[in-house]
Parts: sequence; structure tokens; C-alpha cells
Amino acid sequence: MNVIRVPDYEAMSKRAADFLTARIKELPSPVIGLATGSTPKGMYKQLIHACRMEKISFRHVTTFNLDEYIGLPASDPNSYHSFMRKTFFQHMDIPPEQIYIPDGEAVLLENECTRYESLIDKKGVDVQVLGIGQNGHIGFNEPGTPFDQTTHVTTLTDSTRQANARFFSSIESVPKQAITMGIASIMKSREILLLASGPHKAEAVARLFSGNVLEAFPASVLQDHPHVTIIVDDEAFSLVSRKEEKYD
Ligand code: F6R
Repeated sequence: MNVIRVPDYEAMSKRAADFLTARIKELPSPVIGLATGSTPKGMYKQLIHACRMEKISFRHVTTFNLDEYIGLPASDPNSYHSFMRKTFFQHMDIPPEQIYIPDGEAVLLENECTRYESLIDKKGVDVQVLGIGQNGHIGFNEPGTPFDQTTHVTTLTDSTRQANARFFSSIESVPKQAITMGIASIMKSREILLLASGPHKAEAVARLFSGNVLEAFPASVLQDHPHVTIIVDDEAFSLVSRKEEKYD
């Protein structure tokens, strides 16, 4: 894993945007996997700025989002469709037909999972952007998710619902299920860019560097991927050396 240490969130966001910009410029039809959450927001801001300054264009880019809540209409302000539209897509020049996000309102959820995975296979993701949950989840692959699972319906853990409750009026209104790309879907990406910032991610980052690949800690699977870059700020990196021995 290629580790890029940066001082803070701002620097992480800039480096991540530069990283994606380089790939988007060098590939003829880039396919980029995207994440929601607080971590990539700064990166999206940087990319929007670059697009406004005409330093980058997303006209030839296809995107796949990692996940979507089940039961929230795409128009709900807390759906990941809305998050992506507000935070990124409405400010970019990407054609809507090149944007893929799982449909959390599908009547036949299993069919939706199969459809989404087939699209991923057909297009092939060049770079998948990931955040990391405090419990080591990537996408909504919670601890214990088998590494061979592709896109599937998952039940969110209480800790993930608690962590995401900040966007909702109450914990009760946080959906209990989501559609997520599986670990196997994520591992098919040619390249992975994981971002981590802040003291609340320090435990998870330390564990990621511990050397053990365990389904109990989903992000550890990235150690088996041949092309991973991690952009991590000082606070998120702060426990790495101390914790390394603990998880051996
Ligand atoms: C988001 C996603 C999640 C987040 C993770 C970290 O699409 O799949 O795995 O990346 O929960 O979230 P933040 O960035 O809000 O700390």
C-alpha cells in the first residue's frame, strides 16, 4: 500500500483531487468509483473548483457510487442520490447517463444488486475512492461481511447508524438497510484510493496497518489489493506505530 501522509483535511482533499485529476486526464474513458460521507467532501470541492476553472472535465467520465440506503426515495435529502447531486454532480459537467448509483427503492432488491454488479463488470472501475468507517467498514460492508460478496443488501450496524445519525432528525429515521458494492466488487477495481482524516479514524487506520487480513475488519482486505494508495492526515495516522504491535 502506497501511503501519502499529509498534515490535515485540506491537504488530504487537495492530494486526492490531484490524484483523480491525473487519472482522469490520462485515461481515455475513466470509470471512477465514488463514496459519500464527510471524508470526500473536500475532494469534491476541489474537483468542482478545477472544473469551473476549466482545468478538468468529467464529460468523458463514468461514475459508480458505492452504496445507497434502502427505503429512502432518491429525492430524500438524506439519500446518497441527493448527497451526490448536491455535493458534486450538479456542479460538474458529467452527463447524467454516465452516473450510476444503486437504486435503494427497487422493488426487487436482489435483481437490482445483480444489475449493478453486471454494470460494474461491463464498465470496469479504474479507480475506486473509499472512506473508512470507525469499525473498519468500506462501502457498507460491516465487520464480518464475507470477502467474496458482490453487490448485496446489508443491515447496518448500530454504530454505523449512530455515526450517520448526524444527518437525520433522529436515530430512528436512519435507514436500517442499504445496498452496497461488496468487498469482491471493490477488489475488482484496478486501483483504490482510500482517504482518512481526523482523530476519530486513528484506531481504524492503525488497524489497517496492523498486518492482519480479517473479515472482522473489512478494510484489512485492501492489503491484498495490488494497487492501493492511502492519503491520510496526521491525526488519522497518529496511532499507527503504537497500535501496530497490538493487532499482530
Ligand atoms: C460512503 C461509504 C462509507 C463511508 C464511511 C466513512 O459511501 O460507503 O463507507 O466512506 O462510513 O464515512 P465518513 O467519511 O462520513 O467518515
